[in-house]
Formats: sequence, C-alpha cells, structure tokens
Amino acid sequence: MEPQFWHEKWKMQQIGFHQPQVNPFLIRFWPTLGLAENSKIFVPLCGKSLDMCYLAEQGHQVQGCELSQTAIEQFFAENQLPFQVESKQQHQYFNADQIELIQGDIFTIAPSVTANIAGFYDRAALIAWPEILRQQYAKTLAMLIPANVSGLLITLDYPQETLKGPPFAVSPEWIEQYLAPYFEISLLSCEDVLAENPRFLSKDVPWLNEAAYKLTRKA
Ligand SMILES: C[S@@+](CC[C@H](N)C(=O)[O-])C[C@H]1O[C@@H](n2cnc3c(N)ncnc32)[C@H](O)[C@@H]1O
Repeated sequence: MEPQFWHEKWKMQQIGFHQPQVNPFLIRFWPTLGLAENSKIFVPLCGKSLDMCYLAEQGHQVQGCELSQTAIEQFFAENQLPFQVESKQQHQYFNADQIELIQGDIFTIAPSVTANIAGFYDRAALIAWPEILRQQYAKTLAMLIPANVSGLLITLDYPQETLKGPPFAVSPEWIEQYLAPYFEISLLSCEDVLAENPRFLSKDVPWLNEAAYKLTRKA
C-alpha cells in the first residue's frame, strides 16, 4: 500500500490491526528463540504494538520502524514512556529507555542501521503488503537482517478472493518461494482462528489460518 493509505488510516484511527493485548504466538514462541536479555530486536512496520512492550519486558532493546508519526507518538503516550527525538537524514529517531522507534519508510532504512540486531519480529508487516510490494519487502527484510539472526514471523492465510486486504493472505507456498532463498524456515504453529475474527466471519471467509514461523537469515 502507498504511504498515503497508512497515513490516512492513522489519521482516521481506523486501526483494526492493532491488538489490545500482546500476541499469544509471541508469548508462546519467543522464548524458543533463546535470545539473550540485552539483545537488540528489530520490529519492522511496528505500529503502536504492545508486542514491543513484551519484548522490552524480556530485557531486550527494541528497534521499531514505522511510517506514521501519529502511531509512534500514541505508542509512547499510551505506555507513559518519556522520549527524545533526533533527526538523522530523512528519518526521525524517537528514543525511550529501551525502545527506539525510527519514523520513516522501511525501504529507505540502510543495512548499517540494523547491523547489530540479534533478532526480529514481524507481525502484520509481511501481510500488510499486496503481492508486488510484498516481494520487494521480502528482499528489503533480507537486506536488513544480518546473517544467522533469527526472528519470529506471524502470518495470516485465507482464500484471497473472499476479502480485500490488508491484511493480505500469505500462503506457506509463498513463504517457501520468496523467503526460502534468504532464510531457513521452520513452521512453529498453524491454527484456524476464524471464530475469533468477526470481520472475516461477516464476509463469509471459509477459513483463516494464523501461522508462526521461525526464520533464520542464511549466511
Ligand atoms: C498492519 S499494520 C501492523 C502494525 C503492527 N505490526 C501491529 O502488529 O500492530 C502495518 C503498519 O505498517 C506501517 N507502514 C506501512 N508502510 C510502511 C513503510 N513503507 N515503512 C514503515 N512502516 C510502514 C503502517 O503505518 C502500519 O502502522
């Protein structure tokens, strides 16, 4: 989607993707990555997700990237975190104690910015893109994740013709085709979550799978 689409969503507060609690897959699978407390974790397209608070509570340093300044300001305000802002090239860095949110377009982030991350977390980032941009995002993610670094990817899959995204359907076959060139992939879980998703139910979507994958950047 074009940046304007997301700016408009944040302006109108049409943010149905935002979860009022920490993602259950994150709580269940993050410990299996075995990352050290002080590790820096990259969160692409982070929104104002409470998942970043969970990661900070595990002792991690969180580095998010988000287009919308509104999202970032709401994140810090709603979690009562004092922050400072610094401009670097075309990006603004919002810094709190353990959380740094980079306001800007993910496609303009240089690999040097994420060079010292030890993990990453993608929930509703890969599935936010329509097909062409998703392939571009996959390449960008691969460029930003250093060799041997692991992360958790959470996706949704459903018959795409039954609903207009976002979120867009991402199948296990897509993951294999476009991510396997860059990442070792292991499926951790896949569950039908249709019953808990009224928007999909009301559109008669017949099934909705939420999957969690562990990805490790190939050397
Ligand atoms: C579907 S939301 C997911 C947010 C978050 N991951 C969550 O779980 O709540 C996608 C987010 O990506 C942001 N976004 C869209 N395009 C972006 C881009 N090119 N660079 C950085 N962020 C972007 C949007 O503003 C939006 O907050």
